Amino acid sequence: MRVGFVGWRGMVGSVLMERMLDEKDFKGFEPLFFTTSQVGEKGPDIGMDIPLLVDAMDTESLSKMNIIVSCQGGSYTEAVYGKLRGQGWNGYWIDAASTLRMEKNSIIVLDPVNRSVIDRALESGVKDFIGGNCTVSLMLMALGGLFENDLVEWLTSMTYQAASGAGANNMRELVMQMKTIGDKAAPMLDKSVSSAILDLDRNVTENIRSAEFPVDNWLVPLAANLIPWIDRAMDNGQTREEWKGFVETNKILGRSENPVPIDGQCIRIGAMRCHSQAFTIKLKKNVPLDEIESMLAANNDWVKVVPNTKEDSIKDLTPAAATGTLTVPVGRIRKMNIGDDYLTAFSVGDQLLWGAAEPLRRILKIILE
Ligand code: HSE
Repeated sequence: MRVGFVGWRGMVGSVLMERMLDEKDFKGFEPLFFTTSQVGEKGPDIGMDIPLLVDAMDTESLSKMNIIVSCQGGSYTEAVYGKLRGQGWNGYWIDAASTLRMEKNSIIVLDPVNRSVIDRALESGVKDFIGGNCTVSLMLMALGGLFENDLVEWLTSMTYQAASGAGANNMRELVMQMKTIGDKAAPMLDKSVSSAILDLDRNVTENIRSAEFPVDNWLVPLAANLIPWIDRAMDNGQTREEWKGFVETNKILGRSENPVPIDGQCIRIGAMRCHSQAFTIKLKKNVPLDEIESMLAANNDWVKVVPNTKEDSIKDLTPAAATGTLTVPVGRIRKMNIGDDYLTAFSVGDQLLWGAAEPLRRILKIILE
């Protein structure tokens, strides 16, 4: 099998390469690395000899691949996918972009949750396997147990999404914003000077509102702030990120014909690469809390139920705890005052791992099996 990799140098691509190296995945196939800018140069170090980089726009070279894995983003998929298929290419296309996600002939992959959907699709000859929206995938990794047991009548997800979802430059700018705030306020933080707290607050506020504050990527401050809008507007008042929560979840679960109602608000916060979400879940029936926790914990090997105590929550249920790991902690689980069939929970997950690279790494392995 020949597998072509496109966009392996970007943020999601680099995480994918790291994971594949960690898991010793580079065996049993011939890898070929493509590039949009460095044709003929050396490819990444994957512990074996590989050919020089090939032009990612060269559909003739691409069409020699049995599988193409692209982390290059939606505009690349738009530019190349249709052309390749138009030329009769019949290989497997794996990417993480939203371009093909809702197409009839594609499957959104999250195998710990929808392996049976994937297996059926492979048997029936489906060739396009697409990673889901990060928030959706992380929600399903956390709440898979409730869906598996068909307990969800409807749910809302209020998100706290990290900078990485907007790209590497946005992550850099967030840290630059934090630095700018820290630099300007530094004299007032000196312990020997007891400055009034309202002076410190004024210093930060004036700084984040000033014309010099770095906002080229975010357009507004994210540090010492939040941004209640992600992606573009739909025509019903939702953002596209909020719309995805409903359509993609139901497609992943293979129940687009009988969808679970899902909606919420998607909010950007100043975490680096972990998305968090607070859920309100209307259960189809009143199930005891201990049974719910067991179902959640049993759904997959990565979800981790965190006891609903202050000590456990602040230690294990945070971006700082989950970042860079495959663990998806879910906690703050309790019945709501509204009624016994209303559940609330909070989850966290690394949006570059389960939210992006890991489902791609795993579908590649499944196809190669
Ligand atoms: N749309 C997501 C975000 C990232 O902006 O956080 C990609 O799934």
